[in-house]
Amino acid sequence: MDIDGKYYRSFKDRIKQLEDQHSKEKVDKQHAKGKLTARERIDLLLDKDSFEEIDAFVVPETQGIEFGKVEKHYGDGVITGHGKINGRMVFIYAQDFTIMGGSLGIVHANKIVKTQEMALKMGAPIIALIDSGGARIQEGIASLSGYASIFYNIIRSSGIIPQIAVIMGPAAGGAVYSPALMDFVFMTSFTSYMFLTGPNVVKEVLNEDVSFEDLGGAEVHAKKSGVAHFIYDDEENTILGLKKFFSYIPSNNVENPPKIEGTNYTPDINPKLLDIVPDDSNKAYDVKEVINNVVDKGSFFEISELFAQSLITGFGRLEGRTIGIIANQPKVLAGVLDINSSVKGARFIRFCDCFNIPILTFEDVPGFLPGIDQEHSGIIKHGAKLLYAYSESNVPKITVILRKSYGGAYIVMNSKNLGGDYNFAWPTAEIAVMGPEGAVAILYRKELAESDDPKKLKAKLVKKYREKIANPFVADEKGFIDEVIDPAETRKKLITAFEVLSNKWVEAPSRKHGNIPL
Ligand code: HXC
Repeated sequence: MDIDGKYYRSFKDRIKQLEDQHSKEKVDKQHAKGKLTARERIDLLLDKDSFEEIDAFVVPETQGIEFGKVEKHYGDGVITGHGKINGRMVFIYAQDFTIMGGSLGIVHANKIVKTQEMALKMGAPIIALIDSGGARIQEGIASLSGYASIFYNIIRSSGIIPQIAVIMGPAAGGAVYSPALMDFVFMTSFTSYMFLTGPNVVKEVLNEDVSFEDLGGAEVHAKKSGVAHFIYDDEENTILGLKKFFSYIPSNNVENPPKIEGTNYTPDINPKLLDIVPDDSNKAYDVKEVINNVVDKGSFFEISELFAQSLITGFGRLEGRTIGIIANQPKVLAGVLDINSSVKGARFIRFCDCFNIPILTFEDVPGFLPGIDQEHSGIIKHGAKLLYAYSESNVPKITVILRKSYGGAYIVMNSKNLGGDYNFAWPTAEIAVMGPEGAVAILYRKELAESDDPKKLKAKLVKKYREKIANPFVADEKGFIDEVIDPAETRKKLITAFEVLSNKWVEAPSRKHGNIPL
C-alpha cells in the first residue's frame, strides 16, 4: 500500500485522533487525584505489547438525546480488548473517567457485553477496571438496559470463568452490582469508593452527613461490609496484587490451577509445628503460623484479610499447586463462627469448588457465637450457608483439627459426614458436643450444687471429661476422623493425601440448582 496515499493517511489520522482526544486538563485532574488513566492501568497490568484493543473507534449514541450533551469522541469512555498476564490470556475492560466521567451509555455497554461474550467463549478470565459515574444520565433507559445486559452476562459466566473487578474511582448507583456479582473485588484506598446512594442522597433522605470515604471507601468495604476482598494503598500496588492473585487461579472451570515450578519448599517434616498450639486450651495463638509452616514458603495469600477475622481464608501452595485454605483464628474472638465469618467462608469455598481448587481446613473453633444480636440477625440461616457450601463442594477436601472442635462447629468445618475426604487431628484436638466446663455444668449441676468443694469437684470432672470424651482418640477409635497425626508431619501427610485425591471425581446429583439458604 502507498503509505503516502489517502487511504493509509486517513487510517493513520484516525489513530492519531484516538490518541489525542483526551483533554489534558482532565488527564491532569485524574493524575492529581493519585489516579492513573485507563490506558496507563492497562499498560501496568498486561504483559508488554500484549494488549489488543477492539472497538476503539466506536462513537457514542447521540441521536434522540434531548437533555444535556454527549461528547463526540472515539471509544465511548471504555477501553476493551484482550492481553496477557504472565503469558496467560485475559479479557479486560477499563472505564475512562476522563471521558464523560466513564459513564455508561449504550455503546459503552455494548462494548463490555461483546468483551464478556468473547471471554466466555474463549474460557478466559475477565477483569473490569472500574472508574465510572454510573448510568449515563443523558441516555436514560438505554444506559439502564446496558447495565442489565452486563449483569446478565456476569451471571451467565459465573462459575465458568473467573471475573474480577478492580475499583479505581467511583462505582456509584447500579454500577456497584457488576463488582458485587463478580468473584473478587479489589479497591484502592482513598481514590475508590462504592455505594448505591451517595452522600447527597443520604443527606436528603436521612439528613445524615457522611463523606464519600466513610460511606463507601476501600476501608469500609474491606473491614465492615466485606464487599472488597483486597485493598491496597495506591493503584500500582493494587495492580501488582491483582497479578499475584491471578497466579493462583485457573483460567476457567475445566482447567486446573497453574503449577508453579521451583518453589522454595518448606520442610516436609517441620518440628516448628509442635510449638505453636499452646497446651492450655484457653490460650490464643495465631493460626497463620500453622499455615505458614505447612504451605510452600511465602505462598500464603490471604483473602478478605480485614473482614470477619475470626476465620482466615486464602490461597497457598503445596509443592507448587494451589490450595484454598480456611482456618479458624483463635487469636480473634477465640476463632468463633459468627454471621460474617460463616458467609466469608461459604463464598470462598464456592469459588474454590467452581474452579477446581482443593480445600484445606484448619480447625480450632469453640462453636457459633451466642447472643441476641447474632440470633436476631439470622446466624441460623447464615451459618447454614457454610454448612451448605462445604457439603455441596466436590473438590478434594481435607480437615486438620488442631484443637477445639465442638458442637455444630465440629460438623460444619468439613466433618467426615459432610464429605471430608481426609480428616486428620493433632493430639491436642478436643472433639465433643461441647467444651468441658459447659458439659460438666449441665451433667453434674445437682452434684456441684450439693458439693462442699464445688471448685475441686468441677476440676476433677473436667479432667475426666477430657480423658473420656473431649480428645481425638475417641473419634479416631470410632472412625470419625481418619488419623491422629504428628503435627510435625502435617505437610507430608497433606501432600500425600492431596496427591491421592487429585483424581477425585464425584458426580453432583442432577438438578437445575440447589437452593442455598440466602
Ligand atoms: C453522565 C456523568 C455522570 C453520569 C459523571 N458525569 N457522572 N455524565 N452521566 N452518570 C460527568 C460529569 O458531568 C463531568 O462532566 C464528568 O463526568 C466528571 O464528573 P465530575 O462530577 O466533574 O467528577 P467528580 O467531581 O470527580 O465526581 C464524580 C462523581 C459525580 C462523584 C461520580 O460525577 C457524580 O456524582 N456522578 C453521578 C453519579 C450517579 O449518581 N450516577 C448515576 C447512578 S444511578 P464534565 O463535562 O463536566 O467533565 C445508576 C443506575 C444504574 O447508575 C442502574 C443499574 C441497575
